[in-house]
Amino acid sequence: MYIFLNDKIVPESEGVVSVYDHGFLYGDGVYETMRAYEGVVFKFERHLERLARSAALISLALPDLQFIANAVTSTLAANNLADAYIRITVSRGKGPVGLDPQLCKAPTFVVIAEKFKHYPETLYSEGAKLIIADTRRNFSGALNPKVKSLNFLNNILAKIEAKDKDAFEAVMLNHEGFIAEGTVSNIFFVRHGTLCTPSADVGILDGITRETVISLALKNGVPVEEGKYYPAELFEASEVFFTNTTAEVMPVSRINDVEYRIGKITKFLHKLYREEVSGDGKVKAAE
Ligand code: PDD
Repeated sequence: MYIFLNDKIVPESEGVVSVYDHGFLYGDGVYETMRAYEGVVFKFERHLERLARSAALISLALPDLQFIANAVTSTLAANNLADAYIRITVSRGKGPVGLDPQLCKAPTFVVIAEKFKHYPETLYSEGAKLIIADTRRNFSGALNPKVKSLNFLNNILAKIEAKDKDAFEAVMLNHEGFIAEGTVSNIFFVRHGTLCTPSADVGILDGITRETVISLALKNGVPVEEGKYYPAELFEASEVFFTNTTAEVMPVSRINDVEYRIGKITKFLHKLYREEVSGDGKVKAAE
């Protein structure tokens, strides 16, 4: 395995960062997770834009976006990868202890690319089990969920709750009790034939898979509503699924004690998404 570290490709054994890195000391940094299908990064530009937004929201200076794009391309090539998981991580960098970002002279920049490990097919054929977590999603006024930050403890606490209950993913509510999102995913449900999903102002990371699914639904005659929903509305839904870059569109079979069938809108959107990733939605990494 080869890693892109700061300005060059290095063997994995040399892909190490300082214990004084503020990403390690304080979770001070941002990241993006992407997928390459047949050597082409899906929605590459959108991920770069979101990385830039995350960095701007924490006043972190990013390397030039073209440099980042080239680094991703080189990392895929160095590892001879076509169907890949890619993660870009940018931390505040190395500096003495202390919160002041100016203690760090230069950000640490890392690209990891690995062969994509597919989820077990049964998760798609039978659906995943979810819980509603007690842990609430970060209040936007404290740490805006729009920042895809290295500080993931909020979501990790909810993931621990899910694991304790033998569930695959946890649905997090916001501070007002509205459905926000999963620990690493966005939530969708179907009510009377309309696809519903929490709106961005509930305090979520506005997923790139989410926006792709919304636009596929609209283009293909499925009405979409973004809003503020309580768990009771989710429990009454006829179909539920969640989305993210790696799971794509994953059906849900159960939330707490409520069971769902994998419905036709879920199956339809899953199929459309799969077609999209293997077709026009792809942008060449080098472009
Ligand atoms: N997570 N919400 C949260 C909190 C997330 O961390 C993610 C993505 C999403 C979905 O975003 P997208 O559709 O752009 O992948 C929503 C990635 C997969 C991760 O943490 O690796």
